[in-house]
Amino acid sequence: MRGSDRIGFLDTMDTGNNFCCGIVRPLTTYSWQFQDSGELLACSRTGPSRKLRHPLMEKNIESHLIEKRVFKPAPGFAKRARIGSLNEYRRMHRESLEKPDKFWSREAGELVWQTPWKTVLEWKAPFAKWFVGGKLNVSENCLDRHLTGPNRNKAAILWEGEPGDKRTLTYQQLHRDVCRFANVLKRNGIRKGDRVIIYMPTIPEAAIAMLGCARIGAVHSVIFGGFSADSIRDRVADCGAVAVITADGGYRRGTIVPLKKNVDDALTGETSVKRVIVFRRAGNDVHIEEGRDVWWHRELEYVDANCPPAQLESEHPLFILYTSGSTGKPKGILHTTGGYLVGIYSTTKYVFDLRDDDVYWCTADVGWVTGHSYLVYGPLANGATTLMYEGAPNWPEPDRFWRIIEEYSVNILYTAPTAIRAFIRWGDEWVKKHNLSSLRLLGSVGEPINPEAWMWYHEKIGGGRCPIVDTWWQTETGAIMISPLPGAVPAKPGSATLPFFGVDAAIVDEAGQEVGPNIGGKLIVRQPWPSMLRTIYGDKERYKKTYWSEFKGSYLTGDGARRDKDGYFWIVGRIDDVLNVAGHRLGTSEIESSLVSHPKVAEAAVVGRPDELKGQGVIAFVTVKSGVEATRALKDELRNHVGKHIGAIAKPDEVRFAEALPKTRSGKIMRRLLKEIASGNTVTGDTSTLEDFNVLAKLSADE
Ligand code: WTA
Repeated sequence: MRGSDRIGFLDTMDTGNNFCCGIVRPLTTYSWQFQDSGELLACSRTGPSRKLRHPLMEKNIESHLIEKRVFKPAPGFAKRARIGSLNEYRRMHRESLEKPDKFWSREAGELVWQTPWKTVLEWKAPFAKWFVGGKLNVSENCLDRHLTGPNRNKAAILWEGEPGDKRTLTYQQLHRDVCRFANVLKRNGIRKGDRVIIYMPTIPEAAIAMLGCARIGAVHSVIFGGFSADSIRDRVADCGAVAVITADGGYRRGTIVPLKKNVDDALTGETSVKRVIVFRRAGNDVHIEEGRDVWWHRELEYVDANCPPAQLESEHPLFILYTSGSTGKPKGILHTTGGYLVGIYSTTKYVFDLRDDDVYWCTADVGWVTGHSYLVYGPLANGATTLMYEGAPNWPEPDRFWRIIEEYSVNILYTAPTAIRAFIRWGDEWVKKHNLSSLRLLGSVGEPINPEAWMWYHEKIGGGRCPIVDTWWQTETGAIMISPLPGAVPAKPGSATLPFFGVDAAIVDEAGQEVGPNIGGKLIVRQPWPSMLRTIYGDKERYKKTYWSEFKGSYLTGDGARRDKDGYFWIVGRIDDVLNVAGHRLGTSEIESSLVSHPKVAEAAVVGRPDELKGQGVIAFVTVKSGVEATRALKDELRNHVGKHIGAIAKPDEVRFAEALPKTRSGKIMRRLLKEIASGNTVTGDTSTLEDFNVLAKLSADE
């Protein structure tokens, strides 16, 4: 068949079932026109008549999996919550959109400003300035502001290293450590506006380094401790960093990751880096380059703890965080001071509904945006106790998380679907060994959470009593954008529910028109919000093109989603991953969720492969739970399971078993790579964010 050939066939999909959302008519003969790439070019019912072409049919993402379970906040929880009813949420949300200045002034007014702002927002699309004229310091808001009241001696950071070592830092101690380290930075010639790379394990010093930079107005860029020397080199070059803060090594699954060695490799040849500050964590041997490298502990001998916070403009850059583009070079997402702080302060307060005596644990690594916003800055800005754990969840055994929760009486747990699916795979017996009754709220972030994983989290970890906040947001958004407020918004497993205050999210078709209930489309945000990215570092054009060019004045998230009749948002996956099967645009997450709902499946990733007849065929990569045998019969069972659950259209053409799936360091499945493997191609493009290269090699070999 040629790309421009026309074919006709009877559409036999299960359009009669209730799951369909009405854009496909049953038992109609369609003809399809495909491009060479396998993309659908046109679709018509009987011939090439323009009238019969239905734009929605070509463009919208369909939804077939409708989740009906609803979990209302328990009355006891709602009574004590900041926002205690759906009506109150709706009233405040309306106010926040109609009068954003008023809403955000009130939130910002709870923080410390050295000079008050004059204008809340200056918006020359797509460039925003928030709290213009205001001056403030993030570290002052995270530390100094808690020193005059009862929080002074409260634990700011509870930390546990992978080998089991423990530390507690009160707000006063953390303040002192940050001030001293900020003086170390100054002593080493680092000034306001300089870019500083932080490449450390998740230890208190990572937070101290971040806050130390913030204190003097240096701009940090944290690189995940698992990234290679090449990734460091690229990022150093992109932002022109003058210094690197690192450690000798960090622990991961019982071995020492040679961080300093990676830094040395990255800095060979020409580099902008003049100084490397090394914290001694693991005690492994390291090379010290005279004139360039200094030990953290030695430097402390030369400084005192007196370091007033720099007075910074609200739009002063706070950090750059690199995020992988789906192709090409990583993007340096730039966040600034005032808007970012207000955004993460406010979301942490309302979404996690923190109480004074809570122990709050976000399991993210500092190298991920979640580690920035909800491990370090958000909880500290709120005067909370934040727990930090350095290592892997299955070290020394798969119950490490539950052990930690029991030992510290953790009240709030914020983790990722990838971790939850791993726990399910490892088996419930690890959970049952521990008393998790201290938990009162659970959170999820990073990917759509499959409804069955949600149910497991709810029942097995939350004991059926804890609300779950499924928080949708991005490195670019800085703070949570769509999430239930736990005392107000009833949850539906798999939905991030409703937008946060000030967030004007919508789902639109290709023409930018908002679509009706249960019709899939592109998720956009129509108004600026305080914690939004300001640009891609050093590349305004790429910023405009990537996020703001498709729909004028609106921010393009890159995610596909739908809203149900209650206005709830359901993320169906990245737009780039959407499948096009016989003209039906299918998001990946629903087929994956269907597979994960099978009792033998732990994890699934679905991708498209060019298919002569259908445009794309559905290929599912599946990992099974421990103890389950991966047989041919199971493959058929899984195909039929999806067929029954969703409909014939979504039935995988092929199921492949995999020991593990290729993921980014933050646990996102890299479907782009699986797509290439499924098509029999060698993997090209950027793999610098891949966590485990062995996985890729194994998958390719399995073909
Ligand atoms: C995905 C992570 C569904 C989404 C904070 C988004 C989610 C990307 C959710 C951003 C969620 C994140 N439900 N999908 N609750 N949270 N995502 O930049 O595709 O690492 O665009 O930020 O993760 O990932 P990033």
